[in-house]
Amino acid sequence: MNIHSIKSILMLGLLGYAHILLASEPIEPLPTEIDYDPVKAKIGKALFFDPILSHDRSIACISCHDLDAGGADSRPVSLGVHGGKGNIQSPTVFNARYNFKQFWNGRAVTLQEQAYGPIHNPTELAMNTQEVEERINASKKYQALFAPIVHEGAIDILMITDALTEFEKALVTSNSKFDRYLRGEVLLDDSEEKGYQSFKALGCITCHNGINVGGNSFQQMGTIIPYNYVEGYPDRYSLTKKEYHKNVFKVPTLRNIALSAPYFHDASAKNLRDAIKVMSYHNLGYIISDEQVESLNAFLNTLTGEKPEILE
Ligand code: HEC
Ligand code: HEC
Repeated sequence: MNIHSIKSILMLGLLGYAHILLASEPIEPLPTEIDYDPVKAKIGKALFFDPILSHDRSIACISCHDLDAGGADSRPVSLGVHGGKGNIQSPTVFNARYNFKQFWNGRAVTLQEQAYGPIHNPTELAMNTQEVEERINASKKYQALFAPIVHEGAIDILMITDALTEFEKALVTSNSKFDRYLRGEVLLDDSEEKGYQSFKALGCITCHNGINVGGNSFQQMGTIIPYNYVEGYPDRYSLTKKEYHKNVFKVPTLRNIALSAPYFHDASAKNLRDAIKVMSYHNLGYIISDEQVESLNAFLNTLTGEKPEILE
């Protein structure tokens, strides 16, 4: 064995070790290069802000997914057409492409399937397919926007939901302080670092992990100390009618969480510190100290990313 092969064995060993170190972090950074179709995303962006998709032309996707409020709704319950009340807090549209399923109970798998939901939901946009297609085809604005992708025939609902999906695919909030820390570009301050260590040590990480710090499993609200059950929320039980699915929801992403108050399906936590206390108690069985709340809060604040390029 010559000196070169010894060197390369050592190098491989080191690389292998670095790989293990990286792979052992339970949270992955968001990519900085985002793939999406720019022509369709531009149409989707116009649709997202346009009340043309609602029956009485009064609201749009943006009404309940405020892109300056973490992509969610700062009201406890969203209001739909004709002032109709929704039945659950609106989740964020940022980074939704990385959720394993869509909606609190996962009833849609893909974003395209999801987009069909609010358009047809009688208390949200309250339209039917034919009405949507007629309106969009009659609009000079959308005729022009869709021109590059519609070569013959009319604009149909699939093209419309596809455009919305491409826009949502662009809604990725890269380069949060925490992602830059994971990539070795910056350090966390003492409180943030302590918070991240508690997040792992207490066990928050067992449910909030992966690229979206959540969004990849269904779990019960009140795993350890039961949480008040109120009939009527679209939880897993509403789909399966299995007792043990009461209060079971998709674990929400914690990305940009500092921006998207209020918290929980019932909007019962008005601020992030309260949400942290409720989670520690009901889902882990701990009453944590004020200092721990502060450091967890500092850590969660490092998950706020940059505004996606498409919104510039
Ligand atoms: C009237 C308020 C309202 C409007 C308008 C609305 N949404 Fe929503 N959106 C919600 C609520 C509430 C939920 C959660 C519903 C549930 O889980 O049962 C939701 C869920 C979602 C989700 C799933 C996120 C996740 O993590 O599960 C996406 C994506 C989304 N909406 C995109 C859109 C798009 C695109 C439009 C426009 C076509 C739109 N929404 C219009 C209130 C609204
Ligand atoms: C057993 C799984 C589990 C554990 C452990 C857990 N969570 Fe959660 N977390 C959830 C679920 C499920 C929800 C949604 C609950 C609801 O809305 O009713 C949630 C919601 C949240 C929310 C609100 C998100 C939103 O958009 O409304 C925050 C903040 C949060 N968790 C932080 C934490 C912290 C901090 C810890 C550790 C102290 C923790 N979680 C531990 C499952 C878990």
